[in-house]
Amino acid sequence: MENLQAYGNLVSRSYYDDTLNINEILNKIHCSDALSFLKRMPDNSMDLIITSPPYYQQRDYGCGGIGNEATEDEYINNLLPIFNECSRVVKTTGAIVFNLGDKYLNGNLSLIPYKFALKVLENKKVFLINQITWAKTNPTPRQEHRKLIQSTEPFFIFAKTKDYCFKLDEYLSHLDRKDKKVTSNFSKIGRKYFDTINQSNLTAEEKKNATRELEKVIEEVRLGKIESFRMKIRGIHKEAYGGMEGGRNNQIRRNGFTIIKITGNAMKKDLIESPVEITKGNKHTAVYPLYIIQELVKLLSNSDDVVLDPFCGSGTTCVAAKNLGRKYLGIEINPEYVSLSEERIKEADNYEEFFL
Ligand SMILES: C[S@@+](CC[C@H](N)C(=O)[O-])C[C@H]1O[C@@H](n2cnc3c(N)ncnc32)[C@H](O)[C@@H]1O
Repeated sequence: MENLQAYGNLVSRSYYDDTLNINEILNKIHCSDALSFLKRMPDNSMDLIITSPPYYQQRDYGCGGIGNEATEDEYINNLLPIFNECSRVVKTTGAIVFNLGDKYLNGNLSLIPYKFALKVLENKKVFLINQITWAKTNPTPRQEHRKLIQSTEPFFIFAKTKDYCFKLDEYLSHLDRKDKKVTSNFSKIGRKYFDTINQSNLTAEEKKNATRELEKVIEEVRLGKIESFRMKIRGIHKEAYGGMEGGRNNQIRRNGFTIIKITGNAMKKDLIESPVEITKGNKHTAVYPLYIIQELVKLLSNSDDVVLDPFCGSGTTCVAAKNLGRKYLGIEINPEYVSLSEERIKEADNYEEFFL
């Protein structure tokens, strides 16, 4: 039975006879063209999709596939149906991450990743949560004296609904641990503020509240919930100027004091540094860093979730998923890369990669 319920410009697959059974295709790499395989996958069945399609006119991976179209428009028009299928098969809590590289065409940087992202957004079926910039610490050197070395690539994170899974504490958490200073002498932390409160011209009620809040925040430091704090007291500390500080100034005026907690967590920015990687024997020439993919898997999924890569290549996404206790599903058109992925996945064993 065919269900012709519209899904944007797609058709729901829920009731097609040839729809694949998810349980039969999980934890495998499938040798197929991405579009025809995706078309047979059920709606809302994947928790997360992370992929890097072939870049425009960069390489020939053999077996036809995408990437060597005559024009940019043709390339984008071939990618869009695949993206649309991704947005159909991802759950409403899921995200779709596309990594694309740019290219100089006739001496002009083409901005093709952004042209693609803009086209995707025209459809209004997904929204763009972030564009994470991968800063390559070892970009390919070039004999070029009139241009800077290209050393960044975007990872676009799209979501289908506002319910997308987003676990900020899990993302780059090793950097939090690295940045956290060990505070050895708790007995001294913040004690000076007790005297400052007493010497201030706050009312008796305000002094009582300030002392109570100070005791609470000292306890938070002792328990390791925060790294440290600062206190500002009316009449003693200067008010800050404008911006985000406006709320704090109001607190000082209203309550007589404000407490600024310092969590010690690294600021989670839309920039991630990592070297370019190669697989053993350089069997695949365009792998993306396992480290970045692991961080994205941690940010955008829960353990046991299913992570799909429709352009699986050497299997980096699937390795990251396996390492982090997720299920995986890979699609790759070139049988040699299917075998390479399978080899890498077999060797993967709960190994987390960090870059500090
Ligand atoms: C940029 S590489 C992906 C590399 C991968 N992220 C990794 O870390 O190994 C793109 C891959 O897409 C594959 N490919 C190209 N066209 C395809 C298609 N229509 N369906 C499925 N795979 C395709 C290529 O063979 C290539 O391995």
